[in-house]
Amino acid sequence: MEIFADTADLSEIKTWLDYGVIDGVTTNPSIMLANGVYQLRDGAISIANVLGDKPLCVEVVTDDRDEMYSQAIDIAGWAPNIAVKIPIITTQGEPCLGVISALAREGIKVNATACLSFNQAMLATKAGATYVSLFGGRISDEGADAALVVRRTADWIAAWKYPAKIIVGSVRETVNIQDAALAGAHVVTIPPKFLRQMIDHKYSRFTVGQFLADGISAAERMHALGLSVGAPTNGTKKAARVRAK
Ligand code: E4P
Repeated sequence: MEIFADTADLSEIKTWLDYGVIDGVTTNPSIMLANGVYQLRDGAISIANVLGDKPLCVEVVTDDRDEMYSQAIDIAGWAPNIAVKIPIITTQGEPCLGVISALAREGIKVNATACLSFNQAMLATKAGATYVSLFGGRISDEGADAALVVRRTADWIAAWKYPAKIIVGSVRETVNIQDAALAGAHVVTIPPKFLRQMIDHKYSRFTVGQFLADGISAAERMHALGLSVGAPTNGTKKAARVRAK
């Protein structure tokens, strides 16, 4: 399974790339706005460059399907690793499947976004989307079982060997991430705030502290017995000072 960062914050993206955790990035106009990226083209190019060959998803900003197509052609030309997000329908409920299909035929990677049901995901897959974004949190907002929708979509894609990948987005709590992962999501896109919550654990902190304290005690006893081989490292001295506080 791949993990994408659901953010336009360049410093967060660099951090999680350095950690070796993320395989790509998703954005949308709300994320761009929240992260202060008002110049869509320049912001997207900066992120795409940092990502190297990993994908960056950038969304069109229009409700008109002809404009979606022309914007997508433009956006896809900004960097070779950009996949263009096309909403599954317009605000008026008109299908954007024709846009997805035309772009796919042009060889442009499309992320069919704002899918909230198995049926929408199925049609986006048939239309040739590279990625199908199921918005887990918004599915739950509607009272439906997001993990079940992901599971059914993943099973159907696998059964018929379609190349589309499900991206589960709209993470609201860290438990949504494990639910999506275990339901067969190919990608989960995670805001940095939740990535940080995933790594920390108070009992891990305690456990690491216990081993460090015992290691320092052993070194001190060796030193008292005149058996110490070499001076304590800076890291050990720093840890001992922290322990003494
Ligand atoms: C990712 O591709 C989506 O745009 C994002 O996860 C949506 O999240 P939201 O439902 O919190 O807006």
